[in-house]
Amino acid sequence: MSAERFTKPFYITQPLLPDIDQINEMIKIIWDSNQLSNNGNMVKQLEKELSNFLKADYLSVFSNGTVALQLACKILRLSGEVITTPFTFAATVHALAWNNIKPVFCDIEEDTFNLNPDFIEALITQDTTAIMPVHVFGTPCNVEKIQQIADRHGLKVLYDAAHAFGVEINGKPVSSFGDISMFSFHATKIYHTIEGGALTFKDAHFKERANSLRNFGIRDLDNITEPGTNGKLNEVQAAVGILLLKLVEDEIERRKEITGLYRRLLENTSGITTSKDIDGIKYNYPYFVIKVDKKEYGLSRDELYEELMKYNIFARKYFYPLCSNFQCYRDLPSATVSRLPVANKIAEIVLALPLHGRMLNSDVENICSIIKNIGSSSL
Ligand SMILES: Cc1ncc(COP(=O)(O)O)c(C=O)c1O
Repeated sequence: MSAERFTKPFYITQPLLPDIDQINEMIKIIWDSNQLSNNGNMVKQLEKELSNFLKADYLSVFSNGTVALQLACKILRLSGEVITTPFTFAATVHALAWNNIKPVFCDIEEDTFNLNPDFIEALITQDTTAIMPVHVFGTPCNVEKIQQIADRHGLKVLYDAAHAFGVEINGKPVSSFGDISMFSFHATKIYHTIEGGALTFKDAHFKERANSLRNFGIRDLDNITEPGTNGKLNEVQAAVGILLLKLVEDEIERRKEITGLYRRLLENTSGITTSKDIDGIKYNYPYFVIKVDKKEYGLSRDELYEELMKYNIFARKYFYPLCSNFQCYRDLPSATVSRLPVANKIAEIVLALPLHGRMLNSDVENICSIIKNIGSSSL
């Protein structure tokens, strides 16, 4: 197969965009209303539509997923120590640190890259208040095992579901597990509001608190009950979200096709492992990641990453460096490299390749040919 250098940079993703005329119509409605923020009609409509789409009992939107996570810790009154994964984006762990909570890192599973429930109990102390797992790359965690552990020890479960928009486990939405789930609507996600995020709750009271906390702790005109922040989504962003909700299922369908093509084309490439779908899971295909085995492939993950750039392909080392190796966390006892062998290994060998709904099959074919050619010529 021919392997051609892309003439323009080929990035890891490209945002899903609403039709320009449709967004202009929505903006006209917002302009006419003279309300640009502060829980306006667009935000209310978006929350209603998202609750239906995600099958969530209660849902609130925020200016971004990070603020949403920080506030979820407050809503659940977390303190002391929270057990989480090092194989995640910085925001997960930072949300704990911003709440003066000590992150306790737990190693991950080799295949799913998610928190390994078998190692959680050994990390529980009298200061532990919660478990904060991440559905990494949209693959759901072992939710049942995690809940059993939480119930046994009286812990809360706060899911970072930033990647898991629309994911279901045996017909149940991911948001139905744990106490609160957070979804990120950043422009790089499959569904977005440019910047934004949401929390889903089973309890109406949590939504009330969330809405007050995202608006400076203002309960009503006469009462400010706690030190909230400014975590509001504005009307224009909500309008983008309303329009993209109509497109997201097609986006996921196209990503599923591309993922299938990548898997087929890379299947017999020595040293490259792709993921597989597990029965009973409705996936959303947010990333396409491979594992690179230097001995078999000839190049390390880092070398492949550098080589791909020569072909104008910009892959991403997700998640590298590991959160437990950040300067601000590496001195924690749980961050010791020898305690997190799987996470440290995975962070060195995983590479996310470009994936978005506008990619052509010929783009995928070219990327796979390049990967195959680079590998075979270096052995
Ligand atoms: C796993 C994870 N958690 C949290 C976040 C933070 O979300 P946001 O960018 O919306 O603040 C992101 C993405 O950016 C993420 O990938």
